[in-house]
Parts: sequence; structure tokens; C-alpha cells
Amino acid sequence: MNKWTIAITGKGGTGKTALTTLITKILRQRKEKLLVVDADPAMGLTNVLGIKISRTLEDLRLEIIKVGGRGIEEEKRDLILSLDYKIMELLIEKPGFTTLVMGQPRTSGCFCPANTLLRDALKPLTQVFDIILIDCEAGLEQINRKVVKTINLLLIVSDPTMRGIQTASAIKEMAQKFTHASRIGLILNKITNPSIVEIMRSKTDLEIVGTIPFDPQIAEFDLQGRSLLQLPEDSVSLEAVSDILSYLNIIQ
Ligand SMILES: Nc1ncnc2c1ncn2[C@@H]1O[C@H](COP(=O)(O)OP(=O)(O)OP(=O)(O)O)[C@@H](O)[C@H]1O
Ligand SMILES: [Mg+2]
Repeated sequence: MNKWTIAITGKGGTGKTALTTLITKILRQRKEKLLVVDADPAMGLTNVLGIKISRTLEDLRLEIIKVGGRGIEEEKRDLILSLDYKIMELLIEKPGFTTLVMGQPRTSGCFCPANTLLRDALKPLTQVFDIILIDCEAGLEQINRKVVKTINLLLIVSDPTMRGIQTASAIKEMAQKFTHASRIGLILNKITNPSIVEIMRSKTDLEIVGTIPFDPQIAEFDLQGRSLLQLPEDSVSLEAVSDILSYLNIIQ
């Protein structure tokens, strides 16, 4: 039984991918089956996790278009019947977790079709994984398009800026309409001073489920191109994320 399907959203550059990576680092040591989805076409998470991509959901989408275009009924039926299996084939095993990459659109125009495929792919995956963690594209798009409607927890990341908080409020409103999330929490990231948290608390009606300090080690790892999975266990950001997971009852 799937316990958690969690989407990580927020304004661009607030730390969605860093948070997804830190959660992955903590959860991969546990027994639950963890799937981490890079749903951002920019594939930042794929880079941070050091994943070598073989096939993405976008490749599968192109295969579906090709088969559809050939118009052979039997071939189309076979593809539909084997779709769940084909999605499973896209999964990449890493120590302690599995990943799925949405990929970059290779046809021009709107990116909705790959998003639709991701929405459909999430359903069978909830049968297989205990926890699904989705690193979303910045902004509202994937919420509005119901790509992540099956989530039960939405984590919105904001940096200490008004624009971050405003985007968070807009995401919350959309998520209440377009997802099944029973809990929506705000995480304040890159905090340099506790007084900032109080100022931000007064500016939002979102539940603040945790704060993550600005961590010079994250900046240093970023500069060196090192994966945040290698952050030392006692790093301040990792400890903060661990507290957040306990607060949300994801870990005990
Ligand atoms: N707590 C932190 N302390 C220091 N630097 C951080 C922290 N969190 C994130 N960063 C840095 O902020 C930058 C943006 O982080 P990240 O890529 O995780 O954001 P994002 O929301 O995924 O961005 P995008 O919208 O482009 O996908 C990166 O350079 C990252 O190293
Ligand atoms: Mg990102």
C-alpha cells in the first residue's frame, strides 16, 4: 500500500531539487520502497542525483505517437495493454531508491502530452512504491494540469522573498482545486536569520511545516558539482529536513 505521494513545488530556484535530494538521502536508508520522479523538463534532479538516463517518459510518448501514426489496430491494442509494463521499464534502480525521469520534450510546442503521460504513469506506480517523491517544474503548471492530482501531500518551497510566498499561495489555491492533497505545507528555505521566519509567518496563511537554514555546504557542493547525496550526516540542512520528515510523520 502506497503511504505517501509527495509533490515538491514552488517558485523557480527556491530549492525544490535540493529538498528532494535531501529527503531522498534520508529515506533511502529506510526499508520503504522509494520512487523519486524528476518531473522537471530541465532535469536538474537527474543531474544532482548523478543519474545516467537511458529512457524517459518522453521517449515512451514518442513511441506511442509512432504506433498511433501507423494505425495498425493490433499494434495499438498491444501497446495499450503493455503500457504499465513499459512504464516499469523506464525505472532506474539506485542504491536505496528508484528513479523515473520525465525528460525533455523533443517535439516543438506544448509540453502537456508528456505531463499527461506522467499523470497516467503515477497510478500504477502507487501500487508498487510506498513513497513517491516528485520534484516538480517551477510554478503552477503541473498542479493546474492535474499532473500530480493523486498526491496526498504537497510541499511548497519558498525562499525568504515576497515573490516566493506569493507563488506559494497561488500554488496552494490551485492544489486545493486540482489535487487530492490532504495536507499542504510550506517549507522556508535558505533562512539566514530566525526573525525572517516570523516576518514570513505574518505574510502567509499557509502552514509552515519547517525551515531549512542557508547551508554553506550546499553552496560549496553546488560549486564543485558534487551530489547533495554526499552531504555529511551532520550538515545543518540535512538535520532540518530530518526534523521536517518527523514533524510530518513520514519518519518516526
Ligand atoms: N538551504 C540551502 N542553502 C544554500 N544553498 C541552497 C539551499 N537550498 C538550495 N540552495 C541552492 O539554491 C540554488 C537553487 O536550488 P535548487 O536547484 O534546488 O532550486 P529549484 O527550486 O529546484 O530550482 P528550479 O526551479 O530551477 O528547478 C542551487 O544553487 C542550490 O545549491
Ligand atoms: Mg529544480
